[in-house]
Amino acid sequence: MSISTTRTPLFAADWLVDGEYREETVGMLKSGKESEVSLIARIAGGRTSDNIGGREASAVVYSRGERRVSYIAEKRFKSRLFRGFQGDTAYREDRYRGPGGARVLRGIRRKRAAGHALLEGSWMGHEWEALNELYEAGVTVPPPVGRIEVTERASRTTRVEAAEGGYRMAFIGDAPVAAPRLSAVRLAPDEAERVWRLMLVEIALMLRAERVHGDLSAYNVLYWRERPVLIDFSQTVHVVTHTGARQLLRRDVERLAAYFQRQGIAASVDRAWDRVDAERALDGRLR
Ligand SMILES: Nc1ncnc2c1ncn2[C@@H]1O[C@H](COP(=O)(O)OP(=O)(O)OP(=O)(O)O)[C@@H](O)[C@H]1O
Ligand SMILES: [Mg+2]
Repeated sequence: MSISTTRTPLFAADWLVDGEYREETVGMLKSGKESEVSLIARIAGGRTSDNIGGREASAVVYSRGERRVSYIAEKRFKSRLFRGFQGDTAYREDRYRGPGGARVLRGIRRKRAAGHALLEGSWMGHEWEALNELYEAGVTVPPPVGRIEVTERASRTTRVEAAEGGYRMAFIGDAPVAAPRLSAVRLAPDEAERVWRLMLVEIALMLRAERVHGDLSAYNVLYWRERPVLIDFSQTVHVVTHTGARQLLRRDVERLAAYFQRQGIAASVDRAWDRVDAERALDGRLR
């Protein structure tokens, strides 16, 4: 498949306000069981880090007049610490009864919490790294802005109560309205044909970067300015070394094809497979 790598970038290179700025939280874009996505306005000039929430803030933002504003989407993951972990703790704690046991136990808990925070950090880092790689590879994704480190807040009993980290990227949409997910968009057949082709280019570009999205569907694609923008790289895997890559790629293509078929076009999984050069990518022959 011939891939045009000279597409217009989604964002100008200088889209992000730098130098002196301050930031305001405009509101929550999405709050789910595992993550939260909020909209941040970065306003040129002034002091940094004002945090005003909700409606009030958006009123403030829109009266800024000539000041340059960049809109940032911040995705934070909710803590997984101690999820499904209690039973294991109780079992081991039996061994530390008796004199001095409590102190030893406290130490263990502290270390374990730190270990989990570390694990959590690497798991979040995965999505952040994938976003960066794909961005560099020219895949249409929100330009990455920065990582938010996991913060630990330990209570008196040394139980970690919160460990939320995440990352920031460009907000996709016309603030404060986020671009719809493709799943919520109804496309006319000729438009569907065009977007399906664009999606195959995105998949092909990902494969060239040796990555499989792994959770691709119309739910993880935003539709903005007539272009599909890929998000949510938590399941992204390496195309050659990951043993599940083939199945994941197949599922990605199938789910997307199903969406486009519902839009009334004959999106064929087998033809898509050929067009993105899936077999050669899976064999590591695309480089
Ligand atoms: N860069 C962005 N710009 C605008 N909206 C975004 C952006 N990133 C995420 N969102 C919004 O937040 C939602 C959730 O993002 P994402 O899919 O990355 O998280 P998730 O944890 O998988 O949530 P879900 O389970 O809803 O898919 C998206 O469907 C989209 O509406
Ligand atoms: Mg998602």
